[in-house]
Amino acid sequence: MGTHIVAETSESVARIEIARPDKKNALTLEMYQALAAAFAAAEADPQVRATLIHGKPDCFCSGNDLKDFLERPPHGERSPTFEFLRTLSTLEKPLVAAVGGPAVGIGTTMLLHCDLVYAAPNARFQLPFVPLGLVPEAGSSLLLPMIAGYQRAAELLLLGQPFGSAKALAAGFVTEVVPEGELLATARNAALALAALPPVSLRLTKRLMKAGLAEALAARIELEGGHFRERLASPEAREAMSAFFEKRKPDFSRFS
Ligand code: COA
Repeated sequence: MGTHIVAETSESVARIEIARPDKKNALTLEMYQALAAAFAAAEADPQVRATLIHGKPDCFCSGNDLKDFLERPPHGERSPTFEFLRTLSTLEKPLVAAVGGPAVGIGTTMLLHCDLVYAAPNARFQLPFVPLGLVPEAGSSLLLPMIAGYQRAAELLLLGQPFGSAKALAAGFVTEVVPEGELLATARNAALALAALPPVSLRLTKRLMKAGLAEALAARIELEGGHFRERLASPEAREAMSAFFEKRKPDFSRFS
């Protein structure tokens, strides 16, 4: 529990819970490491046939811990963040997500790698990379235009404003919007249904749907990562993140 990531398996479904409610489930380096380890363990465990990821009913994940961004920025391909992205983007077993409350930054981009995504009406998605002086990550600059179409992706990635479940459904990365009280049970039932199917057929079908994308996705994650690390050290990003902790509006007027 020290890492704020809970992982357990029952009835062939690995359940991974993000549990750091006092910081709105913001992900620290230790949490990325624990998430990557939990995904890898689920992939390796022959008992596991599907994985379910969720947060709290009122908060999925508020993205990367902004304090970590300022004090311990990801340093490259061996960083826990990159390890998490590599594991997430190459999973062979199906991954189901249940999303309620804020799903910010990686809280939204990780959904682009899931196979089934259930969202409650209280889900609040946001891709605030540009407003934070950053660039998209997790391959989202490739995946979102592909899933949602260019203009829809441009609105979400350039303006970076919060949006609700209906818009996420229309954008194509949410499978179904379900009432808050039924969210986790619906997602778990979907994971159980996947787990009951012929596992080889399931894995092959997922692999076929993603064939042709794997190399481009890995290359995009790397390209984004280079820009991201450079941007994190930029005065624009410092201003945006300091403003968040100082609870004020950022001022970008001095940047050209
Ligand atoms: N990193 C670090 N701390 C975070 C955080 C993050 N990503 N998101 C929230 N927190 C902390 C807040 O600083 C606050 O801490 P405090 O109680 O010590 O002051 C606590 O979590 C509660 O957050 P608060 O902003 O008061 O909750 P809210 O319900 O009003 O808003 C969010 C929730 C998620 C919309 C808002 O916290 C937010 O926008 N967070 C930043 C998201 C972000 O930019 N992520 C990075 C994406 S790349």
